[in-house]
Amino acid sequence: MNRQKRQILVSSALPYANGPLHLGHMLEYVQTDIWVRFQKLRGNDCVFVCASDAHGTPIMLTAEKEGITPEELIDRVAESNRRDYADFHIEMDNFHSTHSEENRELVESIYANLVENGHITRKTIHQAFDEQRNMFLPDRYVRGNCPRCGANEQYGDSCEVCGATYSPSELVNPISVVSGNPPVKKESEHLFFRLADFATMLREWIHSGQLHASIVNKLDEWFEAGLRDWDISRDAPYFGFEIPGEDRKYFYVWLDAPVGYMSSFLQYCRNEGVDFDSYWRPGGSTELYHFVGKDIIYFHALFWPAVLHGAGYRIPTAILAHGFLAVNGAKMSKSRGTFITARTYLEHLDPEHLRYYFAGKLGPGIDDLDLNLEDFRQRVNSDVVGKLVNIASRCAGFVLRTGDGKLAAEIPDPDLFARFAEASEAIADAYEKREYSRAIRKIMALADEANRFIDENKPWVLAKEDGNEQKIQAICTQGLNHFRQLCIYLKPVLPELVGNAEEFLQSGELNWDDLQKPQLGSAINPFKPLARRIETADIEKMLQASREELAPSANH
Ligand code: MSP
Ligand code: ZN
Repeated sequence: MNRQKRQILVSSALPYANGPLHLGHMLEYVQTDIWVRFQKLRGNDCVFVCASDAHGTPIMLTAEKEGITPEELIDRVAESNRRDYADFHIEMDNFHSTHSEENRELVESIYANLVENGHITRKTIHQAFDEQRNMFLPDRYVRGNCPRCGANEQYGDSCEVCGATYSPSELVNPISVVSGNPPVKKESEHLFFRLADFATMLREWIHSGQLHASIVNKLDEWFEAGLRDWDISRDAPYFGFEIPGEDRKYFYVWLDAPVGYMSSFLQYCRNEGVDFDSYWRPGGSTELYHFVGKDIIYFHALFWPAVLHGAGYRIPTAILAHGFLAVNGAKMSKSRGTFITARTYLEHLDPEHLRYYFAGKLGPGIDDLDLNLEDFRQRVNSDVVGKLVNIASRCAGFVLRTGDGKLAAEIPDPDLFARFAEASEAIADAYEKREYSRAIRKIMALADEANRFIDENKPWVLAKEDGNEQKIQAICTQGLNHFRQLCIYLKPVLPELVGNAEEFLQSGELNWDDLQKPQLGSAINPFKPLARRIETADIEKMLQASREELAPSANH
């Protein structure tokens, strides 16, 4: 194959270091991982980085409440993140932390460039201040009655009852969440990034053709509403990096978080001897993609490209956004047991089954995705067990018995094999564009064809008479070769199942180019079941465990 080898850097959004991953997070990591595995399978250079998002007020306060240092909290959560990724077969090339020397180095130099290029200004602002704790309060740490509908216990930025948005100073009877006292107003000088300096560049970027239409619409709206200066500083006490040359001021977590993509990659480059600059200087031929949820598009598609450009770096090739995960048609809920952590899922169900279900429903836009657990059970049982694995289990026994454990030297229907191979460009195109549901539909249509081929040739009927051994072996060799092709197509989604299939077929590591040539004449291993059915009871147990383990007061 003469495809040009691409050099691609990919990230998933950095998980906050103050709590466990849940299935909503996993939607994003699975979506990214499938894309990265697909690129690698095609022979491209693709590096997948991520990190803990370690800074900010919530992490400082969570650590304090637990009586540990923020560093201890970050390490503990990162450790649990790493286990969850590994067990879900999310294969990151590097997982670092924004609380790292690499990140400090890059944030400081980016900030210095922005100052030098005139993109930082100073303004005095008024903010809620907790006099007892001696700290300024982020919007979410002030609660009170909604100024519009009067609902009590509402956050300082928006009302969950009537949907109004406002500033904390408009709340009626405001209370500091940290101390329970009414906050006072206090002024402080802050540093602002002048986003509007980048209007021309951003307009071009929005309409570059690289962003999905659903994102472009949102960005256009925000653009029309006006590009406002962005407050990038926070006063002490804060857990983060101090701003050089300022008095007890820190970089806002959302300034140093995306820089975490760069610093995780920088650590990777230093370990692996890769040239960092060739990925980050403007005008190079490398590609850069950030997978994110729809809630953080503003940060990634406006602030981040502007910061990069203003500091002399390249901008991303594209921001790839997805929608939110719901479970059984509703927002994940602790009381219904549908707030499911990655770990609880793993204790009851197979990670590849969720990967398969997500893939079957994921498209390139920001539509929300529903994990309907009954649909999930039926879909996985019917597709993975009933169609895919069924092909191998129907053919393996015959080859092992009649063919002496060896595949035949020829297949009876080379045209059918060729048709399976010809689907490769359409399936690759679907993966490339993150139209995974389209890829899965095509692959499963092929699985149906393979099963039909076996149904029509009826090896079990032939086996009733002597003398048909060669014929049976040839039919089943063809069946197993279709299974092999389907495995290659599904390898980005089901890496473990396909790994076991490679062992069964003794095929070595399969890659995309292996689609074109059948495996003939070689020995195969005895067949072991490659997938287990999902039982309703497994799902029930998972929901019950989710209900029990999560304290009803915790809020997400
Ligand atoms: N720390 C920030 C990201 C910084 S990136 C420089 C953050 N962290 S998060 O832990 O809240 O979310 C991590 C990712 O998971 C985000 O892309 C977010 O959109 C995604 N999701 C969190 N909950 C989700 C669902 N329920 N469904 C789908 N994705 C979800 O944001
Ligand atoms: Zn309200």
